[in-house]
Amino acid sequence: MFTLAYALIFSLIVSTGFQPAFGALYNSMTDLPLRSYDYIIVGGGTAGGVLGRRLTEDGSKNVLVIEAGANPDDIIETQIPFYATKNFFTKRDWNFTTVSQAGLNGRAVTINAGRMLGGSSSMTQMVWIRGGKDDYDLWATVTGDSGWSWDALLPYMKKIEHFSADNPDNSVDMVSTYHGTNGPLGITIDAWSYPSDPHIINATVELASEFPFNPDVSSGNELGMGWSPSTIENGARSSSWTHYLRPVINRTNLDVVINTHVTRLLQTGTDGDKPVFRGVEYATSVPSSNRNVINATHEVILSAGAIMSPQILMLSGIGSRSTLSGLGIQTIVDNPEVGQHFHDHPRFASIYTVADDVPTMDIYIQNATLEAEALAQWKVDRTGPLVAGGPKQMSFSRNPTDIAPFNTSQDPSSGPTCGHYQLAFADQFASEQTTVSSGRYLTIITNAISQASYGNITIGSASPFDPPLINPNFLGEYYDVATLREGVKASQRLASSKSMTDNFVMSPFGNLVQALDQGDEAIESLARSESTTTWQPMGSTRMTRAGGTDGVLDPTLKVFGTVGLRVVDAGAFPHGPAASSQAPVYILAERAADLIKADAP
Ligand SMILES: *[C@@H]1O[C@H](CO)[C@@H](O)[C@H](O)[C@H]1NC(C)=O
Ligand SMILES: *[C@@H]1O[C@H](CO)[C@@H](O)[C@H](O)[C@H]1NC(C)=O
Ligand SMILES: *[C@@H]1O[C@H](CO)[C@@H](O)[C@H](O)[C@H]1NC(C)=O
Ligand SMILES: *[C@@H]1O[C@H](CO)[C@@H](O)[C@H](O)[C@H]1NC(C)=O
Ligand SMILES: *[C@@H]1O[C@H](CO)[C@@H](O)[C@H](O)[C@H]1NC(C)=O
Ligand SMILES: *[C@@H]1O[C@H](CO)[C@@H](O)[C@H](O)[C@H]1NC(C)=O
Ligand SMILES: *[C@@H]1O[C@H](CO)[C@@H](O)[C@H](O)[C@H]1NC(C)=O
Repeated sequence: MFTLAYALIFSLIVSTGFQPAFGALYNSMTDLPLRSYDYIIVGGGTAGGVLGRRLTEDGSKNVLVIEAGANPDDIIETQIPFYATKNFFTKRDWNFTTVSQAGLNGRAVTINAGRMLGGSSSMTQMVWIRGGKDDYDLWATVTGDSGWSWDALLPYMKKIEHFSADNPDNSVDMVSTYHGTNGPLGITIDAWSYPSDPHIINATVELASEFPFNPDVSSGNELGMGWSPSTIENGARSSSWTHYLRPVINRTNLDVVINTHVTRLLQTGTDGDKPVFRGVEYATSVPSSNRNVINATHEVILSAGAIMSPQILMLSGIGSRSTLSGLGIQTIVDNPEVGQHFHDHPRFASIYTVADDVPTMDIYIQNATLEAEALAQWKVDRTGPLVAGGPKQMSFSRNPTDIAPFNTSQDPSSGPTCGHYQLAFADQFASEQTTVSSGRYLTIITNAISQASYGNITIGSASPFDPPLINPNFLGEYYDVATLREGVKASQRLASSKSMTDNFVMSPFGNLVQALDQGDEAIESLARSESTTTWQPMGSTRMTRAGGTDGVLDPTLKVFGTVGLRVVDAGAFPHGPAASSQAPVYILAERAADLIKADAP
């Protein structure tokens, strides 16, 4: 079949001079040329873009990337850093919603996720933080594979980066030791000068014991406060689509197809006693459309993200037999671990009012004339206020060890180079509960980046067009409520420092005022009523040691009990890094590409 297809195409070329459009972007599967693929990648998002580029670079293998969403190229909201959240609740957003969360007083929260080429790297905040050395060393310990350690991954971390993040005050060269400058992905420190910048940097001196200046929070030890790079280059977002896949789209061995929803994977045979999964069943984005099948000759790689990859596995008969049989799905590989250990980092926003004459980003949100001027400027030369991607500084701290519940709890962090909470700054009113039409604000966001709560992804329907049941179990463990409490109190200590109150921060805003007045219990109660997601779904198809029964993937990301199938996305993390998930996904995918190449026939 393989040779036949080539023979056919060759004779077409010879006899008619017709050149099939190899190496291109197709709007539908029916437009694809007649050819076979060594690798089929399900999901053209953050990880899928990395794999599509790397697996085609030596030219020896044909690769197809299948994406459910569309090409974002003509959508300016995917390019302008300040417009990131304008992609939320559009057709480019999966609009995932959790099940009711007991830890959040029964609230359900939306987890926005990119449904387009580049996936969430085309949409969410552009944070580029790796996490601590211990995060990756723990991956190595859990999997028994030292290739996942920080030291072994550092070359991959550098390989990704086209890093030009000179520290804005020119005091520190962030590039020299830990970063790469020849990789595909443009990374820099957002070029907009926020009013908060000098206050925050000054606070690292005034409050040096609690918030010591860290010249590079991605050097392996993230603790302290420092500049936070973003996936921005020349004033525009850089994503796995714009910087990994699109630049190589004309490779003759790469095809990318959009508007195509993978409905399940199909067993194509057996190898020894194991089912081989090289079949990919797909539809258009219309649920009632016909299902068709394409087979990979070598591997299928699921990169649909930590929410949809376990869903696709379950729809394909790989999951908990009791869940699957209840929905009439035949179990091929009974593994109750599929969808377990799912987690995300809970986030709480502390909002402060700022002196009236300070030009925070609120002025562009509140004044349409100013925003229009800023947009016109961005369109001319990609400069001005809309290059603001934020957060531009971050702080990473550990919980105290001598107070409850920390003095009696197991430490959920990977180790001493990792924070329990992260503070991120936004020079604007940033709340999901309320909006305002006037005033100037600073929002200090606490993320519980070493959470203790774990939930699950499961399915309640056999239809691939119904979303899975998403349960991050936010604040399920009291430990996480206490972590948010510590972050809120640390934010208040910072916000009330001389550096921050000197012609800048005025006072806490809204419900925070009373909670800070009343103390710990009131802060914890506010955390339960207002916290939400940081859009970092992870862990639902986790890697473990070879032959382990406490996970879904072996250390080379192959799905246990199958042949021909891997998962490469944030679901594979054995333990979520104490960081935004974007950089860890790129890191995982870069090594995954080499693992896949090493197994090539
Ligand atoms: C997400 O929600 C928006 C607003 O309701 C809707 O227009 C869009 O189609 C949704 N996205 C998907 C993939 O259904
Ligand atoms: C930051 O500290 C420097 C040195 O003390 C001082 O000159 C400057 O005014 C401070 N900036 C702000 C915004 O407080
Ligand atoms: C693809 O395009 C790039 C620049 O756009 C060019 O340098 C390269 O030679 C092209 N490759 C192929 C295989 O056409
Ligand atoms: C995929 O493989 C299966 C099993 O070998 C085969 O029955 C089926 O016809 C193949 N489908 C296509 C579209 O090649
Ligand atoms: C909005 O900004 C424009 C341009 O600077 C200014 O002329 C106008 O007064 C502002 N409007 C309000 C309501 O502040
Ligand atoms: C833990 O700290 C609390 C104070 O927050 C204290 O009351 C309690 O006795 C401590 N428990 C232990 C076992 O040290
Ligand atoms: C998922 O978590 C919920 C809440 O903890 C639990 O009730 C449910 O049984 C779990 N489902 C699976 C399939 O593990």
